[in-house]
Amino acid sequence: MSALPGSAEGAATTGLVDSPVEPAAADLPPLTEQTRLEAREITARYPQPRSALLPMLHLVQSYQGYVSPEGVALCAEELGLTKAEVGAVATFYTMYKRRPTGRHLVSVCTNTLCAVLGGQRIMDALSADLGVHHDETAADGSVTLEHAECLAACDYAPVVTVDYEFYDQQDVDSARALVAALRRGEKPHPTRGAPLTDFRGVSRQLAGFSQHADAAAARAAVDAPGEWGPTLAGLRLAAERGETAPPMREGPRPPHPSQAQGGPLDGADTGQTPEKEAADARVAAADNPAERAGAAQTHPDEGTEYGRETPPGSRPTPDTPAGTEPGTSGQGPGKA
Ligand code: FES
Repeated sequence: MSALPGSAEGAATTGLVDSPVEPAAADLPPLTEQTRLEAREITARYPQPRSALLPMLHLVQSYQGYVSPEGVALCAEELGLTKAEVGAVATFYTMYKRRPTGRHLVSVCTNTLCAVLGGQRIMDALSADLGVHHDETAADGSVTLEHAECLAACDYAPVVTVDYEFYDQQDVDSARALVAALRRGEKPHPTRGAPLTDFRGVSRQLAGFSQHADAAAARAAVDAPGEWGPTLAGLRLAAERGETAPPMREGPRPPHPSQAQGGPLDGADTGQTPEKEAADARVAAADNPAERAGAAQTHPDEGTEYGRETPPGSRPTPDTPAGTEPGTSGQGPGKA
């Protein structure tokens, strides 16, 4: 939807007004003096007060379940910003909610890899079970459902997060069972990472307030054993096959003599023997990596880096990894 700045539609879209898209619920808990004390605690962490805005938005969200007009006003007052500035930030990031959320936020990745492995089917099934669409809350207030862009866990696709904790390799049945458990008030343990809290609880954590008694308890919760198999699959296969990464080249590659001199000019004496010039031409004319390697092997300068150098007069390719012929990385055909 596009709307002109300042129009009613634009204000509803951007949130750059006092009112959220939906009015605050009558039973919304008020922000208190304690909220302000915690907001100031956040501000004190930063050299510039405005840098505290992101965690402060999480803080007000932890009290009210979303960034309410009251929350926007509190952030603006504490940080010396306008409400429009706070609203602009709050509406830019999807983690800040402009409508009251349920007890848990269930996010279903429907981006490419998860989608082809069933992410959209999961989203459709949960939507039908809960009777809601994207960014809507079930009538019992238990769950807000949203579809999400890539959740950076493609190796565990399809993934679902609850309050940003991961539930990996889901299918329709397991996701339905997960949401049913949440609605019964249970908190199934995530596949990895910290234990599940709820949306307000995790918002408080994101504001920088630990829910754990001390640092050791927090570390123990976050470092809980997880299932790392999919992430390490490539490493395991490489070990089984005895494959290693090519060594990193140290230092910049020395320029080819012809490039160092600014490149040969038409008709100029390049200082090359006719034999080398013919070999240069064979390397330059090769139109695939194998042909190029063969031409380089018969070059009089064979044994130097010649075969990997850019032919005189063409663009250098400084980011080709050492030990790798251009075009042999599987990312496209080699260029002569
Ligand atoms: S596509 Fe779903 S986590 Fe990346």
